[in-house]
Order: sequence, then structure tokens, then C-alpha cells
Amino acid sequence: MFENSPNIANILPMQHHEVRKKFLDFFHKRGHAIIPSASLIPENDPSVLFTTAGMQPLVPYLLGQAHPEGVRLANLQKCVRTVDIDGIGDNTHATFFEMMGNWSLGDYFKEDAIKWSFELLTSKEEGFGLDPQRLYVTCFEGDENAPRDEESAGTWREIFKKHNVTGERIYFMPASKNWWSPGDNGPCGPDTEMFYDLTGTLIKGLSKQEYMKADEEQKVVEIWNDVFMEYEKKDGKVIGKLKNKNVDTGSGFERVCAVLQGKDNIFETDIFSELMKVSKSLGSNTKSQRIIADHMRTAVFMIGDGVIPSNTDRGYILRRLIRRAVFNTDLRSLSKIKITECIDALICTYEEVYTNLKLKRDTLI
Ligand code: ALA
Repeated sequence: MFENSPNIANILPMQHHEVRKKFLDFFHKRGHAIIPSASLIPENDPSVLFTTAGMQPLVPYLLGQAHPEGVRLANLQKCVRTVDIDGIGDNTHATFFEMMGNWSLGDYFKEDAIKWSFELLTSKEEGFGLDPQRLYVTCFEGDENAPRDEESAGTWREIFKKHNVTGERIYFMPASKNWWSPGDNGPCGPDTEMFYDLTGTLIKGLSKQEYMKADEEQKVVEIWNDVFMEYEKKDGKVIGKLKNKNVDTGSGFERVCAVLQGKDNIFETDIFSELMKVSKSLGSNTKSQRIIADHMRTAVFMIGDGVIPSNTDRGYILRRLIRRAVFNTDLRSLSKIKITECIDALICTYEEVYTNLKLKRDTLI
């Protein structure tokens, strides 16, 4: 549907290395220090087994500690989320993903964050060149913890007006949708989320009900989330404001690459092209092939960061992923050679970014 849409013609396919570079260059040019991805094994947070969001390694700084690189930061952070493991095989879910993120630690706030998100998404020169007419956004509707986010909505109205984007585009949503926190404790706040129309047919705007239906049917997909972290949570309750007004943004790298490459699923992007060649010879149907590719990628990145298979905690999750990959493999195809090929496919895709994979090749095999 999406790949053959004539409306995609305004997007030139962008390779994954280029997407990565565009994102980092954009924020570097706007005064952000580019920091390396932290390990998948959280250093300072015993409450989680893996890094699950770009902001997680930055929690102490969002809570007020000074960061050695300054108050504007950006990176692509390796993340693992296994809560949706049973959903793997659909178009967008993955147990490992990279999150593009930019942060303001008490520096710029809503207006700049939103304007830069829009500029990066739509600028043909410096950004991804997406069609502004296909953007839809949500803002926080307000509750007992924080007021309705009129400031974000006002910035969006101004942007849409300036770019002649007409029709209904901005929807206020409750905390269940537009309040982000990493868990029951820590920095949190209202967010504004950006969605892109994959079909290219919804350019005139949508009523709230139509937008919600389009979201449910995955005709529009979330491509970026700007969180305005000025609150703190303890034991699941918002207890007040933080010292600083911070910005925490997150955009799924694989999903954005799919949009920019005119694909309706992440497994057909060039991130997966080498790995899918191998998994296609291992799994007997599309779902199995995607599960093998997803789980092998996650397992290789986990081992690359020092996890070893075991009966508990991280090691158990790693073992479970490997088992599920094997379980989805047509047993006639399973051989050591194929597993080695998966590892080499990943090293080939990521060697310029994650040099540790090549260095650890012997451990991985
Ligand atoms: N921390 C936010 C997220 O993960 C940006 O969506």
C-alpha cells in the first residue's frame, strides 16, 4: 500500500547511515554535544535490567546533576524492550531498537524543541524532507497534576499556519497517552507526539475521531515524542516540580528509516537487509523470519555489551531470545554456519557505529 503510493514521490529514500548523520548533524549545529550510546546494561539503575529509553542513562542529569558535556545533548541510544516480545513479527515492533534523542537540561524548552522537531522532520536541506501536510500531533489535555498544554498546542498552530498546513491536526489527549515517565519513580512530564500519515491520503486534516481510527489502523504512525520533563514521580505519584524544566525527546530510528525508505515495515529497511537475507533462508514464513532477525539482532547486541546466557535476570532474557530464534528456525536449515552468517550480517550493518561487535566476533561465535 505504502510502497506503491504515488504520494510517496516527494520523499527520496534515505539510507540508514544518512538518517543517523542528518539527525546528529542537525542537533550538533544547534549547540548539542553528541554523546555516545550508553551500554544496554544500565550503570546506575538497579530497577531495570536493560536500558529501555534514550533518557534512562541521563536520569541523574534530568534530576539536576550537572552533565560534563553541558546542557544540550543528543545521541542514538541502544535500547531493549521485551514487554512486547509476543508481538514481534508485525510491522513495527522490535526487542532491540535505537532511539534518536535530543535533550535540554534546564536550557531551551517547549517552543524550541517543537520547532526543531518540525524542522528536522520536514526541512529538505537539513532534515528528512517529510511532507508537513501529512503530520498530525497530540498534546496533553491536563489533569490534577499539570495544566492543559496550551503552550505546545500554540506553537504547533503557529508552525502549521506558517507552512500552510490546514485542517484539524492537533488533538488533546489524557495522561494515559500524553504523559511520559520511565517508571514509577523519576523525572516525568507531559509530551507532544508527532504522527505521520503513511497513506498520503489524509492531507486535509482529520477530526479527532478520524485521527484515532487512523492511529488504530496504523495509517498514521508515531515518529517522534517530545517530553517536557519538569515534574517528578515517586511510587507512582507525581510529587511536584523538578529543579529544571528539561526536554527529553525520542524518535525510533528503525521506524523513521522505514518511513524515509517508503516501507510499511522496519524489516524491509536497509538496516535489516543483510540480516533478512540470512533469516529468509532459516525461517519458513515471514513472521518466523522477522522473529529470527529481531531476536538474533537483540542477542548479538546484548552479548556485545557483556550479557551472557544464564538462568536469571539479563542472562535469562538473552537465553529466551536465542531459544525463540532457534524455535522459529526450520530445523533442517539450522547450522553453526547460519548463526555465524547472522553475526557477520550485523557486523557489516553496524561496524561503523558499534565497533565492539567486530571486536567481540570471537565471543559472539
Ligand atoms: N523518553 C521518551 C520516549 O521514550 C522520549 O518516548
